[in-house]
Amino acid sequence: MSDKLTKMILAMIGFALTSCAVLKDIGITSSMVTVKELRCEYRVNPLGIDVSKPRLSWNMQSNERGQMQTAYQILIASTERLLDLDVGNLWDSGKIDSQQSNQVVYAGKPLIPRARCYWKVRIWDKSGKISAWSKPSFWTMGLLSAWDWQGKWIGHDAERSDSNIGKDKVKPISDDKLILPPPSYLRKNFAVDRTVKNAMVYASALGLYELHINGKRVGDDYFTPGWTDYPTRVYYQTYEVTDMINKGDNAVGAILADGWYAGYVGFGQKRENYGSEPRLLMQLKVEYADGGKEVISTDKSWKAAYGPIVEADFQMGETYDAPKEMPGWDTRDFNDSIWNAVAVTENVNTKVQAYPGVPVKKIMEIRPIKRTQPKEGIYVFDMGQNFAGCIELKVRGKAGTKVVLRFAEVLNPDGTIYTKNLRLARCTDTYILKGNGREVWQPRFTFHGFRYVEVTGYPSQPGLDDITGIVIHSDTPQVGSFECSNPMVNQLYSNIVWSQRSNFIEVPTDCPQRDERLGWMGDAQIFIRTATYNMDVAAFFTKWLVDIEDAQSEKGAFPDVAPRKIALGDGTAAWGDAGVICPWTIYQVYGDKRVIERHYDSMKKWIAYLKANSENLLRPATGYGDWVAIGEETPKDVIATAYFAYSTKLLSKMADAIGKKEDAKDFEILFEQIKEAFSKAYVSEDGKIEGDTQTCYCLGLYFDLLPAEKRQAAAEHLVEAIKRRNWHLSTGFVGLSYLLPTLTQTGNLDIAYRLLNNDTFPSWGYSIKNGSTTIWERWDGWTEEKGFQDPGMNSFNHYSFGSVGRWLFGTVAGIDTEGPGYKAISIRPSPGGDLTFARASYKSIYGEIVSDWNIKNNEFTLNVVVPVNTTATVYVQPKM
Ligand code: BGC
Repeated sequence: MSDKLTKMILAMIGFALTSCAVLKDIGITSSMVTVKELRCEYRVNPLGIDVSKPRLSWNMQSNERGQMQTAYQILIASTERLLDLDVGNLWDSGKIDSQQSNQVVYAGKPLIPRARCYWKVRIWDKSGKISAWSKPSFWTMGLLSAWDWQGKWIGHDAERSDSNIGKDKVKPISDDKLILPPPSYLRKNFAVDRTVKNAMVYASALGLYELHINGKRVGDDYFTPGWTDYPTRVYYQTYEVTDMINKGDNAVGAILADGWYAGYVGFGQKRENYGSEPRLLMQLKVEYADGGKEVISTDKSWKAAYGPIVEADFQMGETYDAPKEMPGWDTRDFNDSIWNAVAVTENVNTKVQAYPGVPVKKIMEIRPIKRTQPKEGIYVFDMGQNFAGCIELKVRGKAGTKVVLRFAEVLNPDGTIYTKNLRLARCTDTYILKGNGREVWQPRFTFHGFRYVEVTGYPSQPGLDDITGIVIHSDTPQVGSFECSNPMVNQLYSNIVWSQRSNFIEVPTDCPQRDERLGWMGDAQIFIRTATYNMDVAAFFTKWLVDIEDAQSEKGAFPDVAPRKIALGDGTAAWGDAGVICPWTIYQVYGDKRVIERHYDSMKKWIAYLKANSENLLRPATGYGDWVAIGEETPKDVIATAYFAYSTKLLSKMADAIGKKEDAKDFEILFEQIKEAFSKAYVSEDGKIEGDTQTCYCLGLYFDLLPAEKRQAAAEHLVEAIKRRNWHLSTGFVGLSYLLPTLTQTGNLDIAYRLLNNDTFPSWGYSIKNGSTTIWERWDGWTEEKGFQDPGMNSFNHYSFGSVGRWLFGTVAGIDTEGPGYKAISIRPSPGGDLTFARASYKSIYGEIVSDWNIKNNEFTLNVVVPVNTTATVYVQPKM
């Protein structure tokens, strides 16, 4: 490609901005820099923070090249009015000479429970000019300690009967012998006799809750309060509900479902993994205009019943019996005299904490692209995209008509849906009509992974407008985009993003469709760097890293899945190592040292565990190896020892980052010792690594486990191993994530491009040629020769093989961080293959970075955008 580089045009582009406020400071000309996108603990205007010293960050915009922050001032006030008057009664940082605009730790007055904190920032630019104040932002503190909870955990333990009102304690069993108790409806009326100044609600559940006030749903989050190891901790959400409260009578209600707490989780149809009786905890805090306060909380005065949702389970689906609706159940005029008393659990022995992540939300809608009728009365809708979420159904018909929706990722040759690979997940939603005109329904407590929807029982012929796809996932804002001249690679990028969307649902899961959907650690660590390019996952991982630590064994072994359920293994190479690799990645990408500090001891315990469970620093040949590799098997002890070394190295760097210099040295020494042991045991004189597979060379080279003099030979053996397979890959989850990066590092960019561009088996292109819209779990998920792989393990929506995404951003477009947090950026585009252009943007914690190159008439042009307050080094290959 280098001969095409006859000319290089490099343009640094900033965004033009005009805002220029009048400054109160006399005699200082105002800076054209605009301060914006204020975030607290990675979120915009978050409610209910229980970090006592939250971290603040902001971005800046300017049309001047090379603009930097040289100082900042933060004002934080307890009211909007004070902030408006430039009074920071909680914190006035004064002018701080610093370039820091990310991870600035609150250093004001101690923050009390429920405190409201309004804040703004201004900065001094590179010429010492002051910017205007940013627009104000805010956050509120949470309840901070158990003492602030007055509510009790309530639920409904009665048997469901046709009248909706329970009697004894027996669980209904549906036709297919599944145990699917109905969600409970809980409610209470309360009176408010004065003008309300502010009302906040704090809610949690063992199970899933959906809160209602005066006939309306509170917030738009799904699957709250999220999934944790409930006996250790459970989170609560905070919502501002001031506008929902009336002067006079009010009603508050909740629907309470099994969710992860009591429903089916993982494989083997196991339910009630944490408990059998869901519980709700809620506290509504009303502040009156006259200064008075009141708390309405869950207690024995609430009433309970069953309602129209007669089944609700993540894996099995939801059934809605519309004739059983109880109109107005969540309004003040509803008569609940025949409802049951609630069950009250006095003490639930767990920590109740503010949710640190991002909630699951409806992110977008999808319209079907096609409807077929493979058999009489059976309609199949093609949504055109495999995704996770559910369907909104529109229907008219007679009361009692039952419309059944089944979901699948792929079709049988006869056009019917293929559901074998869902294993024991029933994935069926049912809607029973009430029969009064147009009915619109969407389930609330389930999701499916699907592209196709089978509709049966529909009273007429359903049209394309009667089915809408609802895409649901954790609200991780999209921060990346990638496009190049090869449509197949663009489809690959799209598949990667869609697999991330489909699997970042509260925890990073393996797949969204079959009876699994667990927080598999190996998958997550393999994919995390790619995930960070696609979406802002800082808060999402902040939450999940706690799940990992909660799941660590006494002996220090990290689990295979977090939260630790069903798949109970631990100490597994490449899977357990997520406990080190994920914090490292979050530190690298967001400059977050707090995750290191928070998880440092548990990471240390992991390394100690690995050391204690090795012989002469070699780890045993156990674990999952290079999972779903194709045609080659890498020795498990080689993989395990390599990861032992890699995690040790990363921990050494992290120890250094947080000032633990002694530890850093010790871990560095340990790394060198493991490297030596690895070399002695597995590396031969000619640079061959035991196993002689693509994966073992990737690990040896990428993890720096070889003596310098053998690297070149090992790199050649890697190329040989690819050539042996007729220039195809053979790696599984583990090796793949390092394959193209290692080839690039060792001067074999052309081979990396060759693998990227392949469309013959096995390759990404092969799945794309065969219609994939998400990343397949296995290279041979479907082949011309064999058709579908064994349905026992064959998902079409598993992100692990999407780990190549980071190479698209980091190498093809060449956007990467130099050191932690993108304060220093490197732009090193690597054109190759037959690409004539590539364009990527990535919104880092400092703002947008763009690398946009094209080759036209032998001329290479590169456009670059870098954010204010960062520096970038741009590397271009000279003409040779
Ligand atoms: C999951 C994987 C996981 C693996 C462990 C599978 O069932 O779907 O993605 O990492 O088990 O080997």
